[in-house]
Amino acid sequence: MMRTNSDFDQRRAKAVARAIAYTSTFTAERAENSEVWDVEGNRYIDFCGGIGCQNVGHRHPKVVAAIEKQLKQLTHTCFQIVPYESYISLAERINALAPGDFDKKSLFFSSGGEAVENSIKIARYYTRKPAIITFTNGYHGRSYMGMGLSSRMSPFKVGFRPFPTEIYRVPFPDDYHGVSREQAINAIEMLLKTDADPDSIGAVIFEPVQGEGGYNIIDDEFLHWLREFCDRHNIVLIADEIQTGCGRTGKMFACEHFGVAPDLTCIGKSIGGGLPLSGVVGRADIIDSVPPGGLGGTFGGNPLGCAAALAVLDVMAEEELLKRGLEIGARIDARFSAFARNPELPCIGDARSLGTMNAIEVVKNRSSREPDGELASAIIARALAEGLILIGAGPDRNVIRVLVPLTAPFALIDEGLDILESAILGCL
Ligand SMILES: Cc1ncc(COP(=O)(O)O)c(C=O)c1O
Repeated sequence: MMRTNSDFDQRRAKAVARAIAYTSTFTAERAENSEVWDVEGNRYIDFCGGIGCQNVGHRHPKVVAAIEKQLKQLTHTCFQIVPYESYISLAERINALAPGDFDKKSLFFSSGGEAVENSIKIARYYTRKPAIITFTNGYHGRSYMGMGLSSRMSPFKVGFRPFPTEIYRVPFPDDYHGVSREQAINAIEMLLKTDADPDSIGAVIFEPVQGEGGYNIIDDEFLHWLREFCDRHNIVLIADEIQTGCGRTGKMFACEHFGVAPDLTCIGKSIGGGLPLSGVVGRADIIDSVPPGGLGGTFGGNPLGCAAALAVLDVMAEEELLKRGLEIGARIDARFSAFARNPELPCIGDARSLGTMNAIEVVKNRSSREPDGELASAIIARALAEGLILIGAGPDRNVIRVLVPLTAPFALIDEGLDILESAILGCL
């Protein structure tokens, strides 16, 4: 019997919670590198990669082989009960790669949200200080701490109160949206006077490029100021590199662009090559302040995820994907910047990128910069109908972001960009 997208849609509506929203109009059957095919055999170019989880492409043969090999050896013993090699090897590799010339240690989990939770637990344990500074337009997951740290009310936070306390949100410096570096620094200095003195602040958590928040790139000087601020007050600086890490920005970790080493870094998404794997890497003295048994979880650092991650790191190095990512990013940026200058596309207000984190901002008009989330959604829907998977971002959902695999052929990138351009034109 013919399997149709509409059959699956009906089954999904009956069986799956409606809170698990989805944007696609089809059900996936298989995927390879940067393409996905639906149950009816239609093919789509994937500029989303399962929200940034496929930097080495869907089902990279080396990742598949590593998972298969691990599958035949063992799938789960729980590292805290019986350890295994892939976890230890992965910790060694990640410690060597993460920024900072200090001794490092790592620990692994399954979801990005868990990595964030654990980074906060570690920072609080080490400093014995409860308060956390976080930023406007930040996104750190859907757990209660994740919601508390994240900025967006609808749909992430509405109706789920109360959130954890001792979280203080300050403006993320962002010139395009009218927040200067000075304003961001002043807001933190004001916070120290009004709500949280340095003796109560245990951590500052930030994304080097805000993912869900709309690809806002952190200001270089601000980040250096933040590093110095944390050093001055014994505050743990946590970089959430769940979306920016694993080569997405042209460096293994985005913080390398700025020459700043955070104390702790959260990793997730692409490191698992499609399997659920996340972790925290950072200063050994901070991480080891927590005594044995203080951190962990049944599935954290599952053998299959660790084996996949080791293969991902091999593929990144062997195929020189940092370099390739920069090439892809530059190619996309050239087109996006042309969109933002093109008088026939007045709805594209800005194009910005760091490596292969490329975005365009959809606006009502270029000078007012008023966001147009409705138009951005229409463009994304039209692109999907023409065979390109894209996702939005930003508090007004008016940013269209790219998370294409770094292994995507240039011809496919160009084909995707053509579809996007025709979708924009078609929506005007
Ligand atoms: C920067 C950042 N932090 C945390 C998370 C949460 O990760 P997960 O959805 O795997 O829990 C995400 C997910 O999009 C993210 O982009």
